[in-house]
Amino acid sequence: MKTLLIAFVAGTLMLVFGFTKYNLPGGKSLSQQDTSGSITGTALFQKNCAVCHGADLSGSPPAFPSLKEVKTRMTRTQIADLLKTGRNNMPSFSYLADAERQALVGFLYGENTESQVQTQLTPEEQGRNLFVANCARCHKAKPGDPLPPDQRRMGMRPPVLAGVTRYLDIPRFETILNIGPCYMPSFSFLNQQKKSSIYFWLKTLEKDAPRYNGMMQRRGNMGCGGYR
Ligand code: HEC
Ligand code: HEC
Repeated sequence: MKTLLIAFVAGTLMLVFGFTKYNLPGGKSLSQQDTSGSITGTALFQKNCAVCHGADLSGSPPAFPSLKEVKTRMTRTQIADLLKTGRNNMPSFSYLADAERQALVGFLYGENTESQVQTQLTPEEQGRNLFVANCARCHKAKPGDPLPPDQRRMGMRPPVLAGVTRYLDIPRFETILNIGPCYMPSFSFLNQQKKSSIYFWLKTLEKDAPRYNGMMQRRGNMGCGGYR
């Protein structure tokens, strides 16, 4: 049983991390590059951008534009500026070093550029990105956010997520994501670390949530809510 579990975990990890390896040019593996202290634009892209724009740059238009032909639409400076400022649902990457943003621009221009510095996204930053990519079409993060598009269409009310960390612990939160209650899809494809990142980011929003939030909202869900 234990061996099975280990094999399963190993298999999942390979699935999750496998794609980054296939996409690296010149047969170099990611771990080789990590030890050399430099990181390619390709690897930076997989780490910071692929969650929304796709590992193969194709995105999922219209919400997340394809970046395949972006160099025909935008100059290097325009892309670098956008990475600094962000725009609408595109987050700012101002915390990356200039060299890293340049490496990303180079990558989008089809060059194999390297950056000598390596910055990791904090769990909260990764969580926010994952929320935008996976949850924002149904859930408001904060009460004052605009109505998400899928809420409008389906006429039901997925709860505002700021505040859920008050009454859901991490295991419970992860279970809900795995099950996908009501018409919420299952997010079992997100690994545990990614699910925790979303949780950590939501935790930073607790201060924006009114005390009654969540429980009040849940009463509005016709025929939903029997998952606890
Ligand atoms: C959380 C999701 C998300 C992440 C992560 C993200 N983007 Fe975006 N990106 C978007 C969205 C949404 C837009 C469209 C912005 C708008 O509405 O103006 C966009 C637009 C862009 C554009 C402009 C495309 C065009 O044709 O106008 C570029 C270039 C871009 N992103 C590059 C990147 C790069 C490089 C990264 C990683 C450092 C990244 N993005 C990470 C969501 C994301
Ligand atoms: C297609 C719409 C949809 C998407 C996408 C979606 N959800 Fe949900 N979610 C719902 C609905 C509807 C409920 C209410 C279920 C109920 O009350 O029975 C819900 C409930 C929840 C709850 C339980 C809240 C509570 O008060 O108990 C959590 C936590 C949650 N979602 C997190 C997420 C996260 C995180 C994501 C993204 C990874 C996500 N959801 C994506 C529709 C969605």
